[in-house]
Amino acid sequence: MLVKFAVIGGNASRDLAKRIARRLKAPYVEAKTRVFPDGESKITFGHIPKNSIVLVVQSTYPPVDTNLLQALSIISQARKVSSKIYAVIPYMGYARQDRQFLSGEVVTMSIIAKMIQAAGAKKIIVVDIHSKTALNHFKIPKENVSAIPELAKYFKKMKLKNALVVSPDMGGSLRAKKFASLLNIGFIALKKSRNRNTGKVLIQSSKVDVRGKDLILVDDIISTGGSIIKAAQFLKRQKCKRVFVACTHGLFVEGAEKKIKKAGVSRIISTNTIPRGTSKVDVSGVITESIR
Ligand code: R5P
Repeated sequence: MLVKFAVIGGNASRDLAKRIARRLKAPYVEAKTRVFPDGESKITFGHIPKNSIVLVVQSTYPPVDTNLLQALSIISQARKVSSKIYAVIPYMGYARQDRQFLSGEVVTMSIIAKMIQAAGAKKIIVVDIHSKTALNHFKIPKENVSAIPELAKYFKKMKLKNALVVSPDMGGSLRAKKFASLLNIGFIALKKSRNRNTGKVLIQSSKVDVRGKDLILVDDIISTGGSIIKAAQFLKRQKCKRVFVACTHGLFVEGAEKKIKKAGVSRIISTNTIPRGTSKVDVSGVITESIR
């Protein structure tokens, strides 16, 4: 049986939604959005084709809560014409708040999962979500799509010689290993610690053999850039050649992009889960493959 899709693009992910619609040869429905001066959003729909699987595409990067509420509103409205709503949240904000790190902390990711389900989503699709724990808060079918093969393809074209992949922390080891294996080069992971109260990052590794090498720092999210900056400065002190950065989600808050460049990074490449000047890698293909 031919599956009929329709794709709704939220304010935060219009271009990506259009790309997904083109790949699926599905109608694209625009959720026209107006944000009033007081911060409230007003969303108006075009026609949503009946009896189709409706993909609601909206990343929840800053303004996180506004984009989240817009996603919930769109899902809820789309639910009125279709019982099959897939929430495609390429960048899932709050995924780093997936568990209690300090006593008394609210696990906001679990609240968000409940809200997305309550709004009517029957499936959740994310790209390189920060942790499996975050995804496990959803009780509906879930898909975590990896952007690493697409990022690796981009770097393959750069034909770097004597290159090494570096994870800024141990938690990213598997990601770095996968990235490195796709490029057929080696990888290392640095030891990093973060003060849970101040957010300050410290590289604990003392010495690594990177002299004269081109390095690709790979991470899932760059927010303030603290982790990448500390890692780049450390690697520069170890006399590496150049440092490149690859990440799935480039939030770049508080002028992070400029600060990272100032730390000596030659180029930053991210994906279009968050539309930025650095978004050179398109994830519409991998998202579409996971849906078909
Ligand atoms: C941490 O575990 C994540 O993988 C990222 O390294 C982190 O969220 C990046 O944040 P920031 O850019 O603020 O250091």
